[in-house]
Amino acid sequence: MKIQPANSLDGTIGLPGDKSISHRAAIFASMATGKTRIENYATSADCASTLDCLRNLGVEIEQENSTIFVSGVGKNGFIKPIKELDCGNSGTTMRLLAGVLAGCNFDSVLTGDESLSKRPMRRIIEPLTLMGAKIESANGCAPLKIHGANPLRAISYQLPVASAQVKSCILLAGLNARNKSEVRSPKSKVRVPTSRNHTELMLRYLGAEIEENYIEVENGFVQKISVDGNSRLAARDLNVPSDISSAAFFIAAASCLENSELVLENVGLNPTRTAILNALQSFGADIEVLNRKEICNEIVGDVRVHGQKKLSSKVTSNIISGDVIANLIDEIPILAVFATQIENGLEIRGAAELRVKESDRIKAIVENLRRMNAAVEEFPDGFRVGKSALQGATIDSFGDHRIAMAFAIAGLFATGETEIGGAESAGVSFPGFFQTLSGLCR
Ligand code: S3P
Repeated sequence: MKIQPANSLDGTIGLPGDKSISHRAAIFASMATGKTRIENYATSADCASTLDCLRNLGVEIEQENSTIFVSGVGKNGFIKPIKELDCGNSGTTMRLLAGVLAGCNFDSVLTGDESLSKRPMRRIIEPLTLMGAKIESANGCAPLKIHGANPLRAISYQLPVASAQVKSCILLAGLNARNKSEVRSPKSKVRVPTSRNHTELMLRYLGAEIEENYIEVENGFVQKISVDGNSRLAARDLNVPSDISSAAFFIAAASCLENSELVLENVGLNPTRTAILNALQSFGADIEVLNRKEICNEIVGDVRVHGQKKLSSKVTSNIISGDVIANLIDEIPILAVFATQIENGLEIRGAAELRVKESDRIKAIVENLRRMNAAVEEFPDGFRVGKSALQGATIDSFGDHRIAMAFAIAGLFATGETEIGGAESAGVSFPGFFQTLSGLCR
């Protein structure tokens, strides 16, 4: 895929459904009683992996473009799959389904592609084992052989990392446990969720008993979320907002391309996901939210961006670290590219989790920025990027969708042509990305 420099990004468009919310919608609808219509279900390869696994567990799913109809089987109505469940590249599919399968009275195997087979799974194996499931793994990695049990033991579990996937895995297993299971988040400075909370919002929407409170500890708060194992889910139609993580590529690009006038419609604006908008605004991006409303317990709205010639930062520190990192973890690749366009650049710290995503994203960001002639320094838990005049280069996506898309945006800012190697990986979250981008570029 070849990218040419652009002058602006112009247009009004809708984007595919949110990946995190789509996975949850399909899984929870399968665990509900009754038929669910899900609109704007993500077109991503990851979310197709989730549907494929659910079908192999005996769930009937019909699809008409981005609308899907799921015939729920109830929280323990799944049937033993006759083959391995292939999660493809999708960590969310594997970690959430592990929570569901732990509470099913049969054995099953979750597999994934080369990248997913290297990602850490001990973080879910440990709590699920405490709950009474037996899980065999290849040294803490996939394939995972799950020997489920029902009912599971309720636990009270302290998360070692601020991970929505691990939290969700335990809450889903908790639906098949006796009594209440509880997940405690790592300490945060303010009284807000430390990771995306789509699971809690959607489970509650479907009728599960979910309680959430905060305990005050030294210098901060710990969030406690509990789920009652006696909860039942009832089918209710769901509407998936556009994915803010996909929108972020266009928002960041339009912010620094003068004369851009871009409107992205119906974007998910859950506060656990909007840290990227706050970060871009704090570095001077002109972003407005219009038509804010609530749909299925999630906040959505239209995002309008006016491009500017020069961004003027509203902050004194160009370091991002601490609690906010978990809430913009997927947007760090595009933030790194954006940083090449701002006065004083940007330093990201406390983001070692980036090393265990679809690729080692710290390495991928640093390597590719260097190829484009940017000033960049690597740290074990982050990097520093200086304001840089980018030069077109050949990029290695490392098979990672967000690296491919972030560096396509870098190509718009660069002089000369940029070639994205492994561009097809964008399909993991956004199959039409390059077409949408070329339709917006002027
Ligand atoms: C996700 C949670 C995050 C995120 C991933 C999607 C989810 O991962 O990076 O892309 O849908 O719950 P972690 O839970 O590992 O932080």
